[in-house]
Amino acid sequence: MLLTADPLWQLTAACADDPRPGRLDLIVGVYRDDSGASPVMRAVRAAELRLAQRSPSKGYVGPSGDLRFAASLTELLLNDRTLVDRTVAVQTVAGTGALRLLAELLAQTGPDRTVHLGVPAYVNHPGIMAAAGLRVVTHPVASTLDAVSSARAGDVLLIQGCCHNPTGRQMALDEWAALGETLARRGVVPFIDQAYFGLGDGLEEDLAGMRLLLATVPYAVVAVSGSKAWGLYSERVGAALVVGGDAQARGSLEHIARVSYSQPPAHGAMIVAEILSDPALTACWRDELESMRRRLGRLRDELADRTGFDGLREQRGMFLRLPLGAERMERLRVEHGIYGLPSGRINLAGLPAEQVGRVAAALASHSPA
Ligand SMILES: Cc1ncc(COP(=O)(O)O)c(C=O)c1O
Repeated sequence: MLLTADPLWQLTAACADDPRPGRLDLIVGVYRDDSGASPVMRAVRAAELRLAQRSPSKGYVGPSGDLRFAASLTELLLNDRTLVDRTVAVQTVAGTGALRLLAELLAQTGPDRTVHLGVPAYVNHPGIMAAAGLRVVTHPVASTLDAVSSARAGDVLLIQGCCHNPTGRQMALDEWAALGETLARRGVVPFIDQAYFGLGDGLEEDLAGMRLLLATVPYAVVAVSGSKAWGLYSERVGAALVVGGDAQARGSLEHIARVSYSQPPAHGAMIVAEILSDPALTACWRDELESMRRRLGRLRDELADRTGFDGLREQRGMFLRLPLGAERMERLRVEHGIYGLPSGRINLAGLPAEQVGRVAAALASHSPA
């Protein structure tokens, strides 16, 4: 099979080549501040300085990566002793590496499993599952509970932990509780992708639904990305968690890592471990994450106010799904130099404050009404 280049990166390259001064890249999910820069977080910089002074060894870390990192990230995400004690965690090559490792683990432990995936889905989910040899069946993302109700025992439900990419949907706690109960009853394995925690309703709020669900099921896997919450996109930092996992699960994950990339890169994980092991640095990081979240909220509300697209207010996270189809998105690009995805998804975090008026005017002129 001949595979083609990813259209998302082709569009990013086309934007970079666009000679118009007002061109705006709202494609890839990277946080930018009001000046359009993608800043290094203060806590990250401080941790890097400490690491530079200590000059930790560059020796091999092993296929599980940085265990101090994996343990502190697990504590942060699960925040419950009982859950933490029954979880096996390894560091991975970012969220994508975690998704692939866990998909391989699920394929090895249940070759007949079907992965149920709500659509529209994160664009890379179907490909990663298929690459691991898992069969994917889709359902409308709003009908997830129905899909689980008719799934077979041993099947997998792949869901996002918060701020759904691309719809911006945030499940309410009672939806999480009902989903957990149905998953447990049907013997379906939850596969949770946590990429945007802290950028929706607040760090603890964004994790609450997942914690509730995990407490009700015997076994679950969680792919964690450190890319967004710490702004460490290029460091490739993430983790694979197996809740209800044992030494066998750790051994399998290590084997899969060993035969694919041997071991993950160390620097990003060391930064996160340094932050999470120091209460002052953790507080600094939480503050900064919260101000990023608030900025996203302000941009979203301002766009909704100016365009009259009221549905935008309900969405959460770094992205915004505009009620515009591929043709209107194309016109935004051609006529205004505003680059989003044909599905209507834009990276809200890529929008400098002084450009909101221009973008809102362009959007309103392409209103679906
Ligand atoms: C839903 C979702 N999961 C996982 C990822 C992967 O992130 P990473 O860069 O950590 O591999 C992304 C990145 O955009 C994402 O949107």
